[in-house]
Amino acid sequence: MAAWWICVLLFASLSETSLQENLRGYSLIFSRKGYVSLEVDQPRELLQNITICLCSFSDSQSKQALFSYATKDQDKEILIYKARGVDGFWWYTVYIGGTAEYFRVPDSYLDWQRICITWASETGVLSLSMDRNLLARKVVQPGYFIKPHALVQLGRAHHEDIFFHGEIHQVHMWNYTVNILLYPSEMPYLSSMISWNNMNYTTHGNVAVDYILSSPQSCPF
Ligand SMILES: *[C@@H]1O[C@H](CO)[C@@H](O)[C@H](O)[C@H]1NC(C)=O
Ligand SMILES: *[C@@H]1O[C@H](CO)[C@@H](O)[C@H](O)[C@H]1NC(C)=O
Ligand SMILES: *[C@@H]1O[C@H](CO)[C@@H](O)[C@H](O)[C@H]1NC(C)=O
Repeated sequence: MAAWWICVLLFASLSETSLQENLRGYSLIFSRKGYVSLEVDQPRELLQNITICLCSFSDSQSKQALFSYATKDQDKEILIYKARGVDGFWWYTVYIGGTAEYFRVPDSYLDWQRICITWASETGVLSLSMDRNLLARKVVQPGYFIKPHALVQLGRAHHEDIFFHGEIHQVHMWNYTVNILLYPSEMPYLSSMISWNNMNYTTHGNVAVDYILSSPQSCPF
């Protein structure tokens, strides 16, 4: 029995790596159901306004889970998927407090896509920008408050068999409204809840951290 447990622990430690570091110039590369969990400076209060930005690159045709913020009561407190629709366009799905809204992004090209979302409880207005283009805004869950103490994961939808194939980088989250049309270099990174420049993360399974080799146009770094 004891030997069996040692085996399990050894296996777990081989497939998981926890680090705290500045990932500037690096990308997380996901395959075969690998995912990343983040250690977040948990807010003490309910969140009224949030902003999240991230860059992703995928050539998979299936539904891709980018960012998951799951609380004890709600797996989809915040969840961002992307998928290629039957129309050939990329569609982003954003859940706030378990309710989904959909955004079709303008071009279906194969490249990095930098998206930012911002949501305000007071009005329920959910905005999504891709490469600094604002798409048609939606209203979702006005008056709702995002709960603190979440499990935050990249590349995996909590409690679902939906993962991510490809690369993700420049992930940031703020507990307030940030102008999502700013250039990446103008964003207030120092005051973010999740900062790519100071990531406290654990990789699970097939995930690697590597230099960004391409010269992405839409995700300058
Ligand atoms: C955002 O989080 C920081 C750090 O926890 C906190 O000091 C600040 O008051 C929060 N701001 C809002 C608007 O919740
Ligand atoms: C959230 O944003 C609204 C404006 O949209 C503002 O009135 C409110 O004070 C903000 N809440 C917090 C906690 O900062
Ligand atoms: C990073 O995560 C580890 C493990 O949970 C924790 O012990 C450490 O305090 C965290 N560091 C920061 C700066 O949050």
